[in-house]
Amino acid sequence: MSNKKELRIGLIGTGFMARTHTNAYKRAGDFFPELSYRPVLKAVCSRNPAKVKAFAEQWGYESVETDWKALIERNDIDAIDICASNDVHAEIAIAAAAKGKMILCEKPLSRTLAEAKQMVDAIEESGVKNTVWYNYRRVPAVTLAKQIIDSGKLGKIFHYRANFLQDWTISPELPQGGDGLWRLDIESAGSGVTGDLLAHCIDAAMWHNGPIKDVSAVTETFIKERMHQGTGKVQKVGIDDACIFHCHFENGSLGVFESTRYARGHKAEYTFEINGEHASIRWNLHDMNRLEYFDHSDDSLVRGWRSILVTDGDQPYMKRWWVPGLIIGYEHTFVHQFADFLESLETGKPCSPTFKEALQTQKVCEAVIESANSKSWKNTGAEKF
Ligand SMILES: NC(=O)c1ccc[n+]([C@@H]2O[C@H](COP(=O)([O-])OP(=O)(O)OC[C@H]3O[C@@H](n4cnc5c(N)ncnc54)[C@H](O)[C@@H]3O)[C@@H](O)[C@H]2O)c1
Repeated sequence: MSNKKELRIGLIGTGFMARTHTNAYKRAGDFFPELSYRPVLKAVCSRNPAKVKAFAEQWGYESVETDWKALIERNDIDAIDICASNDVHAEIAIAAAAKGKMILCEKPLSRTLAEAKQMVDAIEESGVKNTVWYNYRRVPAVTLAKQIIDSGKLGKIFHYRANFLQDWTISPELPQGGDGLWRLDIESAGSGVTGDLLAHCIDAAMWHNGPIKDVSAVTETFIKERMHQGTGKVQKVGIDDACIFHCHFENGSLGVFESTRYARGHKAEYTFEINGEHASIRWNLHDMNRLEYFDHSDDSLVRGWRSILVTDGDQPYMKRWWVPGLIIGYEHTFVHQFADFLESLETGKPCSPTFKEALQTQKVCEAVIESANSKSWKNTGAEKF
């Protein structure tokens, strides 16, 4: 019998993120055995009774709910994990905070900045533990990039550029709304690639390089109308299919960001590059265990981009896994974040990014959309994490 404290999870959603998070709940204790909390898969909630029952059986949840309000009323749940579409994040988080539940919320925090502010107010008022699943921070190579930047090795930073490219919405036949396609429906998603993909790039960029001060953006909606699965009618598409923005960081560096779902050949190509006075760093999700590093102080005869395979025990998170040289994958980023969350319960330190930190990313996303709509520069008001 385990003498660990129980953390009883109530998961909302049975889709993609519900699976990645549940996998993390199952693995974290094995690979972070010192943690004094033990997750218990208490209940999973989704509106479709058959789907939620099947999910619970497959993944080992003790019980099911079909109404999230009933889930947060339960006294046997300590933490609510929001893995539902963006339209319900705010309502659930605000209600869960009022009930004193810890909250782990998927990104983006919500559809709009106004909603995100209400969520942060609710969290601050209740004082509940919280985190937002900007999981790419916990790719060991991305964490190592942060450590290298913080060590000062890059010197003054001049440029930060990031891309997140996909190609899955090119067909005009693809409907909007409903299961799996809520991302194309402005009502459910809040925005298109800006909140869905660029939010990751913005979170990592501000973590690495400090606040983004102002932005100038263009967006495009290539397919103007799509059939809506909810109404059965052909409706205007309200989301940004593609977004490009440039910006000033508060530290004086320049940023360039691009995201699209129309880059044929790219499935989920997230890349960033940072250029400093002395050194540069670059990373690509498709080769996520590697960090490329160029150091101008190297002997000029052998100077060049180093390709660092981030698998050694002294590199972030890697002592938890296999032996040097053996790689890990996407799912591990969620294990890392959940383990960090459990550790934060012990130490009392926040588990970044908190709602308050994710609000800064939301400010930038909102400024990007406003800039594109008004064809003008916009200040973001983002503060340092
Ligand atoms: N961190 C990441 O890298 C990452 C990746 C993908 C998605 N996300 C985020 O995770 C969230 C979920 O995305 P997904 O890809 O898992 O979507 P999905 O479509 O696979 O699953 C969404 C789930 O939410 C459920 N749902 C919607 N409204 C609900 C309600 N009112 N009550 C109960 N359940 C409800 C649906 O039934 C479905 O099970 C989104 O906010 C998305 O932006 C994050």
